[in-house]
Amino acid sequence: MYKILVNLGKDSHPIFIGSRVLSQKLPSFLKSVGAEGNILVVSQNRILRKHKPYISAVLKKAKMKPVFHILPDGEVAKSQRELFRLYDAMLKSKLDRASFVIAFGGGTVGDVTGFAASTYKRGVGYIQIPTTLLAQVDSSIGGKTGINLKSGKNLAGTFYQPKAIFSDISLLKTLSKQTISDSLGEVVKYGMIQGGALYPWLEKNISKAAKGNIKILEKIVLESSKIKVFVIESDVDETQGFRDILNYGHTFGHAFEAALGYEKITHGRAVSVGMVAACEMAYRLGFIKRNVLDRQLRLIQSAGLPTSLKGMRLKPKAVAKYFLVDKKVRKGEVKFILPQSIGELAAVKGISPSLIEEILKTVL
Ligand SMILES: NC(=O)c1ccc[n+]([C@@H]2O[C@H](COP(=O)([O-])OP(=O)(O)OC[C@H]3O[C@@H](n4cnc5c(N)ncnc54)[C@H](O)[C@@H]3O)[C@@H](O)[C@H]2O)c1
Ligand SMILES: [Zn+2]
Repeated sequence: MYKILVNLGKDSHPIFIGSRVLSQKLPSFLKSVGAEGNILVVSQNRILRKHKPYISAVLKKAKMKPVFHILPDGEVAKSQRELFRLYDAMLKSKLDRASFVIAFGGGTVGDVTGFAASTYKRGVGYIQIPTTLLAQVDSSIGGKTGINLKSGKNLAGTFYQPKAIFSDISLLKTLSKQTISDSLGEVVKYGMIQGGALYPWLEKNISKAAKGNIKILEKIVLESSKIKVFVIESDVDETQGFRDILNYGHTFGHAFEAALGYEKITHGRAVSVGMVAACEMAYRLGFIKRNVLDRQLRLIQSAGLPTSLKGMRLKPKAVAKYFLVDKKVRKGEVKFILPQSIGELAAVKGISPSLIEEILKTVL
């Protein structure tokens, strides 16, 4: 079992990581914060089908009575309708400002539950129990909450930190190999951010993670969490620019997702190809040697992820227009996060449209 403290002044909170960490740590944590009686657990049927007995037993041990609120599967869980249905459930279970809500799920459950918790009665406490690899390495950490609006993803949101995060690795056993691979896109990103010993370790082990090896996944969650915590501690509300490096591969990735329509490609696959494009751009600008690009290509392939979108019939011009609608664009200028080496990323602006198109041609 590992514990990381996220140091954010009055919003500081622990992350517990390990197999069965829920049963080891949740009851004593709930006791320490004085939680009692009903506790609202927000989740989805797919998750509860596998893990309801486990979480129910843990909450029983903590002398809490879980009230389950079920969200639908997919992005629709982050809709205005589901948000208001969740507020109603919070009212019904008589949550007040001393109560807690548990987000028991992947990034979708975490985002909408966090948003509801931050706004209901001007804020009630919430606990993240991430059940997907993506949520354990990425979305549960950092306090970004949100829902989708008709015109785009995550357009309404808050920064609101959970009281604690429990990354129980045993929950990952029921994920499909495809879902695990998809999340490894973010892990490759962390490897590029960190460099050091992590990158060669990933080169040796990421294929085992893709096959669901629990020990390897535990180390991946631990190392990724440390990096994300370090970044957000330095730039909690995205005002210092440091948090930008988490966007490596995402400027291209978001444009691919938008151009293809979100159903045709997963986020992790889009980000993987986005990292290939970013590396290619860095290479053409003379920032890195070919070797960096080649190593990253092999790492992405070992994770079971794609390195191009050939065959998906996307035109460079059609993709390029999506750069400007990205949330991160300021004053019409697109900012790319590009490697200077493995372990060193930097934001670069002022890239010419012709170079962007050239790069797109190499991955489309
Ligand atoms: N807040 C942030 O900082 C942040 C960061 C990255 C992504 N996100 C958001 O995260 C969302 C994607 O999250 P995700 O990839 O976790 O997908 P998800 O939450 O949609 O979960 C994927 C599927 O797996 C199922 N599932 C979850 N845990 C399971 C388990 N243990 N066993 C079996 N099935 C399980 C879910 O029911 C769902 O059907 C997006 O909405 C994205 O915008 C947020
Ligand atoms: Zn991402």
